[in-house]
Amino acid sequence: MEHKEDKLKEVISHAKEYGFVFPSSEIYDGLAATYDYGQLGSELKNNIKSYWWKSMVQMHENIVGIDSAIFMHPTTWKASGHVDAFNDPLIDNKDSKKRYRADVLIEEFIEKIRMKIEKEVEKGIKKFGDDFDETQFRATHPNVLRNKEKIKEIEDRMRETLGKNDLEGVYNLIVDLEIVCPISGTKNWTEVRQFNLMFSTELGSVAGDASTIYLRPETAQGIFVNFLNVQKSGRMKIPFGIAQIGKAFRNEIVARQFIFRMREFEQMEMQFFVRPGEEMKWYEYWKEARGKWHKALGLGDQNYRFHDHIKLAHYANAAADIEFNFPMGFKELEGIHSRTDFDLKQHEQFSGKKLQYFDPELNQNYVPFVVETSVGLDRMFLAVLSASHKNEVLEDGSERTVLSLPPALAPYKVAIMPLTKKDGLPEKAREIIDQLKFDFLCQYDEKDSIGKRYRRQDAIGTPFSVTVDHQTLEDNTVTIRDRDTMEQIRVNVADLFSIIDQKVNMRKLLV
Ligand code: GAP
Repeated sequence: MEHKEDKLKEVISHAKEYGFVFPSSEIYDGLAATYDYGQLGSELKNNIKSYWWKSMVQMHENIVGIDSAIFMHPTTWKASGHVDAFNDPLIDNKDSKKRYRADVLIEEFIEKIRMKIEKEVEKGIKKFGDDFDETQFRATHPNVLRNKEKIKEIEDRMRETLGKNDLEGVYNLIVDLEIVCPISGTKNWTEVRQFNLMFSTELGSVAGDASTIYLRPETAQGIFVNFLNVQKSGRMKIPFGIAQIGKAFRNEIVARQFIFRMREFEQMEMQFFVRPGEEMKWYEYWKEARGKWHKALGLGDQNYRFHDHIKLAHYANAAADIEFNFPMGFKELEGIHSRTDFDLKQHEQFSGKKLQYFDPELNQNYVPFVVETSVGLDRMFLAVLSASHKNEVLEDGSERTVLSLPPALAPYKVAIMPLTKKDGLPEKAREIIDQLKFDFLCQYDEKDSIGKRYRRQDAIGTPFSVTVDHQTLEDNTVTIRDRDTMEQIRVNVADLFSIIDQKVNMRKLLV
């Protein structure tokens, strides 16, 4: 099996080689944790956005979308709690001089214990074969039970210390667990300190506190401050949602693992406003709905799992992550949060404006509760790219690299290739593109042998390649090759639209 680190490296280099993702300002040796999306990356990213927007906004009568500014009045962030509480606990190793998030160090320690449990289960499967009762094994095996107990103890201590902002307690936990720095291998730690994650800048030419503004660390606040504008202008009735896609910025302490953790990234967020007391019902509803949305992509159900938060954000009373099996292991892809009425109430208090809804059925005014779904667009991109990237050995012993992207997300849907560059074949190929280009992004490709061109299209995930040859000029038929099966069939040009459409239409993901 391929090593996980190697897999990530391979995905990064593939992404660069084919124009999906480049290091930002690379000619100046790049900027840490900042990336640019290239010509194919932008297409893939746009298609992911479309899938989300269609499913969340356009297919819900009671959800609408907005596009709010990145800069917001600075009081927004006082009210939201981000100025005071959007911190990460950080710790430095004195020998390696490397900085870590204390909670992540502890979570990684827990993950190692979890891996021990999984290894024990694997041993059981090997030993008992078909007779193996996994549920029973997990509930009774002494090593599994001991490790589960250990995890629970650590999680309890973590919840308690982080919950009370007891930084000394967090430090003691790291010391007690004998966690070592992955670089230096020593336990020579500094104390734990809080570090605010918001980037700030000055508005206009006046310096000083009053003019400090922040780059938004989440898109959600742009939705909260527009709650009444949208509700009134759109005559929205509770329950209803407001969604948006946009950039967010966080001065992450440890930004690494490619586009997984960046300082500038994009979020796709939806705030669902509900009656107080109904939030748990909707929280469960959205957890399930979002799980389905991910799984419809066909990247493998086994690659997703839910993880309930131990450390709740300052605004939440329940929160879960949908985790994805990235090349680095299972990590957060999306967060679903029950944010209570915290944000709207805070904004009421700080702005002095009422942010309430009159519920005609209850004949009552109230501040709605909110259930949020928040998925990182860049993480979605990495999930799709890494799960689709495959090295295959073919029947004849040759190898190919293929991006088996969900067809609806693939940048190009079809490549049109004249067999040779003469005899009117390029013109015929372009004529076919002219028919298809209104519905599908097509690529014209005439360079190199057909075999090489197929490999190139496989590597960028194009679901279909169409070859135009001399017979095409006679009977208007072409060869169409399927990326996944590599099967080639001869079809009439007039049938191309429906063959391609059947496979690449986003409708397939949305129904
Ligand atoms: N409004 C809620 C919120 O922002 P979050 O769990 O902090 O919640 C939501 O972030 C999602 O945004 C995450 O699940 C992740 O996909 C993405 N995200 C957060 N920080 C990120 C970063 N530094 N780089 C890339 N994506 C990030």
